[in-house]
Formats: sequence, C-alpha cells, structure tokens
Amino acid sequence: MERDGWSSRRAFILAAVGSAIGLGNLIRFPYICAKFGGGAFLAAYLVAMVTAGFPIMLLEFGLGHKAKGAAPKALRRISPKLAWLGWAAVGVGFVIVVYYNVIMGWAFSYLLESPNIAQWAESAGTATNHFNNVTLGLTGNAFTFGGFQWRIAIGLLITWAAVVLSVWRGAKTVSKVVYATVAIPWIILLVFTVRALMLPGAADGLRFYLNPKWKELANPEVWLAAYTQAFFSLSIGFGVMIAYASFLPRRTDLTRSAVVICFLDTLTAFVGGLAVFGAAGFLAQHKGVPVKEVLNDMKGLGLAFKTYPIIIAKLPSPTLFCGLFFLMLLTLGIDSAFSLLEAAASAVRDKWNLSQTKANLAVAIPGFLLGLPLVAGCGLYWLDIVDHFMTFLGAALVCLAECLAVAVVFGVGRLRRYVNETSNSRLGVWWDIAVSFVAPAALVFLLVTEIGQRVNGSYEGYPRSAEFLGGWLILLLLPLAGIVLSLLRGKDEQEENGKSEEGDVFAEPVE
Ligand code: PHE
Repeated sequence: MERDGWSSRRAFILAAVGSAIGLGNLIRFPYICAKFGGGAFLAAYLVAMVTAGFPIMLLEFGLGHKAKGAAPKALRRISPKLAWLGWAAVGVGFVIVVYYNVIMGWAFSYLLESPNIAQWAESAGTATNHFNNVTLGLTGNAFTFGGFQWRIAIGLLITWAAVVLSVWRGAKTVSKVVYATVAIPWIILLVFTVRALMLPGAADGLRFYLNPKWKELANPEVWLAAYTQAFFSLSIGFGVMIAYASFLPRRTDLTRSAVVICFLDTLTAFVGGLAVFGAAGFLAQHKGVPVKEVLNDMKGLGLAFKTYPIIIAKLPSPTLFCGLFFLMLLTLGIDSAFSLLEAAASAVRDKWNLSQTKANLAVAIPGFLLGLPLVAGCGLYWLDIVDHFMTFLGAALVCLAECLAVAVVFGVGRLRRYVNETSNSRLGVWWDIAVSFVAPAALVFLLVTEIGQRVNGSYEGYPRSAEFLGGWLILLLLPLAGIVLSLLRGKDEQEENGKSEEGDVFAEPVE
C-alpha cells in the first residue's frame, strides 16, 4: 500500500515544530525557569536538550523512518516482543490529548468571554474567582463531582472537531494546516513580546527570569524539571515523532531536521518567557509588590487563565488583546493536539488497515468521551494529577525503554548508520553514547527521584486514593493495554517476521 507522505521536508519540519511548540512553551517553561534559578535553569535545560532531548528525538525519527510506521510497528520491527511498548507510547500520548483538549476547551471558553475581560479580570481576586467558580465550577476536592460545564464541553467538542479535520487525510492535510498553525501563534507571540517589553517594570521581570542563580544547579529537582520539560516540549516519548518521521520519503535529512526543530522549540520557549516575565514585572510594579509574589499565581495554568488576563485588562484595548491571547493559545495547542491524534490514528491504520477517516474517529470519539468527566467541577484536580504522572513518569519510562530497546536489542551504531545514510549531515559516535548511557542514566535518576518523592508524599498533597486512580493506575494500565493491543490479530501478523511490503527494511544496511 502506498503511504501518503508530507508534501515537502519543510512541511514535515513545520508539523514537528508545531507539535513541539505548544502550551508547554508558554505556560510551563517560563514558570519552571523562574522557579528553578532563571538563567541557571536555562543552562540545565540546554544540557537536557543536548544529552537527551535531541538524541531521543533522532532515535524516534530513525525508528519511524526506517520502519515506515507508527510507534507499535516501529518497535515491532526491532522485535515482535516490543510492539506493546509502541502501543504504550501511543497510549501515553492518547491520555495527554484527552486532557490537553480540555485545556483547549477552557481557552475556547475564555475566547468567548474576552469582551467582558475588564470586569472579570479586574484584580487577582476577581480573576481567580472567575477561573475557579465561573469557568470551571471548581469543587472543594477531587471526589466532589460538581456541575457539568457546558461551555467547556462545547469548546472541547469544537476542539476535537478541528483536530480531526486537521488530520483528515493524514500527513497530506497536516502539510497544509501547519503553515497557519505555526505562523499565527508566532506572529501573535511576537506582538505580545514587544508589548510586554514596552511595559513599565518589564525590566524587573526580566531580571527575575534570566538572572542566573547557579547554586540552584546543585538541587536535583532542577534537573528533574529540565529533563521532563525537554521531553514534554519536544513531544518525545509519545509516539508522535515516530509517526511523523514515517511519512518522510526515503532520502531526507533527519539530523538537520532534528536540529532545526530543537532550536525553534527552545527559541519559542525563551521568547515566551520574555513575554510572560516582562508582563509579570509590569504587574508587580503596578501592585507595588516584588516580582516573586506575582510569580506564585503564575504556576502553570494559572498563568494563562488568571495572571495574564489581569495584565491584559490593564492594557489599552483589552478585548482585542484578550481575544488575541486566547487565539494564540488555541493555535499554539492545536497542532500539538493533532500530532497526538495522528500518532494514535496512524498506529491504528498500520495495524488494522482502516481508512484514514475511520482511524481518526476510532481515536477521536473515545478521546472526546473520556475528556467529558474532566469538564465537571472536579476536573481540574484530576487533570493535574494525570498530567503530572504522564509527563513525569509516563513519557520518561517510554523514553528509557526506547533507549534500551535500541541500545540493547537493535544496536545504536546500526541506527546511527541508517540515520547517516538518509542525511547529508553526519551524526557522530557521541550520539551512541548519549542514547546508550547518558540519556538512560538521566532518565533513571529522574524516575528514582520522582518515585522517591511520591513515596514520601502524594503529589501536591492530593488524597492517596485520587493519586492512585489518576496516576499509578493509568500508568499501570497503559502497558497492559499495550500488551493486549499487540496480541490482537491485525495486518502486522500477516507480514511475517519483520518483512514489510518493501522487503526487510530492518536488515543491516549495506555500507
Ligand atoms: N510539546 C507540546 C507542548 O509543549 C505538548 C505535546 C506533548 C505535544 C506531547 C505532543 C506530544 O505543549
């Protein structure tokens, strides 16, 4: 069967950049960076990028390109015993898209509310009240279900519809859509950055953001944050990059593409930080408090839904800027969301030979339905728990398993030679060392530290039962689901032992 591909390498790079650049760059990165030592965190982040982010991205590119298939097929080609791991990776991505789209639903709800921003975002009190009580209908704890938020549910439905349409004919449609979904948020981001830097007090914010506190590097948590942020931000460990690379033609340049994608992703996070901290400095000056105090409310989602609206409400033409801000969030997020859908849908297509439409719906409909409980008043709590476990443990476990699968079973040298054959730029032996030792060591450290912390106390003090259901249980179910899916009969069993339509693509390359 002919596999539809990207219209050009540029389309592929844009799609991968679109997947990488998302809510993580704007909502997660600046906050973590300021919390963990500003410029010093930036240094830790760059180390994480070079020692694990880039090498694993290239590993995923190599696997997907070589197998011409999504994660389950790519890992099955290494060994039929590893197909479950590919499904588990796709599973982590699927769980992420379920709640990622709920956040998009919130942004949608805010977009509709932009005309009244001056009222609901007058102060920290009104903004928090609006987010918690009006938008989310937040209950007192994770087990009090609360009311169902119709507006978010509609936003969720629209998001899913847009996501499905964006991947309607797979890579062919995505090739067109990404020009808009990458360019629009970038242009708006530039507008916001310039605007924020011109605000009085911006310099204080920037000082807080970038002033390196080198002492922080001795804190293991900083490294934990740097590595998890790198994985989440580059969309690795979710099956996305494997699927995206599988749509490339035989001759391409995997290495150079990965360099460009890593660079653009980091640049966006950095610029996002300028916009966020310039504005934070302004708010601090306005309130007459130190920047540090403003920062407390900027944690994660609070930044987009509580702090930023207050700042926008104080600018001239708040409605316009509010609309632009949430449009930016939506366009930033949508290409990340549809990359996750495509990762899962292409895995389904590989396995059962379904049409694109059927495969998309087979993933999107359950994804939408599973997101509905998160639209209830207690949704935020569950979203927070699931997010933490998937990004800190799920993706890290997948990345570690992928490194080991390549290092121990497939052979790093063999994959590097393959990558070098397809690319003009040459990848050195350092990559073998990164994939076999450095990245796995960093991942083991990350996992041990995180698990140790969870043994000592539940995440954010949630009840252990909620942590179990939203965290550990899902984490346990994913590999089990992976095993079941890999055992089901599909097209892959007919292609006997690693032979594909084009012959044994995983045979030792001719040198
Ligand atoms: N990288 C995206 C972001 O930074 C999120 C994402 C994670 C997308 C995993 C795809 C896969 O927001």
